[in-house]
Amino acid sequence: MADLVLEVRNVDKIFGEGETAVYALKNVSFSVKKGKFILIVGSSGSGKSTLLNMIGLLDRPTNGQVFIDGIDPSNLNDNQISSFRNSKLGFIFQFSNLLSDLTVLENVLLPRQIQGTDTNAIEEAKSLLKTVGLENQMNKYANKVSGGQAQRVAICRALINKPAIVLADEPTGNLDSVSAQTTVQLMKSLNKKLGHTFIIVTHDRPQFGDVDKIITIKDGRIVDDEMMEVPTVN
Ligand SMILES: Nc1ncnc2c1ncn2[C@@H]1O[C@H](COP(=O)(O)OP(=O)(O)OP(=O)(O)O)[C@@H](O)[C@H]1O
Ligand SMILES: [Mg+2]
Repeated sequence: MADLVLEVRNVDKIFGEGETAVYALKNVSFSVKKGKFILIVGSSGSGKSTLLNMIGLLDRPTNGQVFIDGIDPSNLNDNQISSFRNSKLGFIFQFSNLLSDLTVLENVLLPRQIQGTDTNAIEEAKSLLKTVGLENQMNKYANKVSGGQAQRVAICRALINKPAIVLADEPTGNLDSVSAQTTVQLMKSLNKKLGHTFIIVTHDRPQFGDVDKIITIKDGRIVDDEMMEVPTVN
């Protein structure tokens, strides 16, 4: 159990009620070990984003439980959930969602500042930005960098609190093929180097090459829970 970073147990998500109810997730169960690189795939409307929102504590399951690092946060109040989410989870979205009136470095630091002040934050943010090749862009305003660069900033922002899990919903969906490939390779190398677990929703499974596990969703159910033989990190 101790090496499980995520456990999803019998999760249903129903939107609406009665005749108009949408069963977006139906009895979804799976677990993920620390340090793995996982894809969630499936056709449009299959429930991928809904599942990611459950794992990301952005929405609550109708039934079932989600354990993050062994903790079921469902009994926490909204403030406690926000704090738990900010410390345990990092998010990368399709659009990088940077704050344009802050610099690249300031954007990366934001989730850390929400947690409180600490002396190492700036050095760690600079080190992350260097790892993704943005050491010369740190003091630019976020709206002055390219789409591919912005997504690399978003990766650093997702990692600054050393989250247990990084969640990404179509992180390459808005990028040209070269930037998309750079983004994929960076996420994979950061996964190997730093050991964060990555869970990524994608329409473009081949773009990712070898991964630890692929979860396929169809009509709200897991239809294929394939394990591939790649050594565990940690
Ligand atoms: N807030 C909501 N209210 C009602 N129905 C919703 C809501 N969010 C999602 N749904 C429905 O739940 C189902 C799953 O949606 P979801 O967004 O998870 O699909 P997806 O796999 O992420 O699709 P895509 O690949 O197009 O992003 C769909 O039928 C969708 O219409
Ligand atoms: Mg989606």
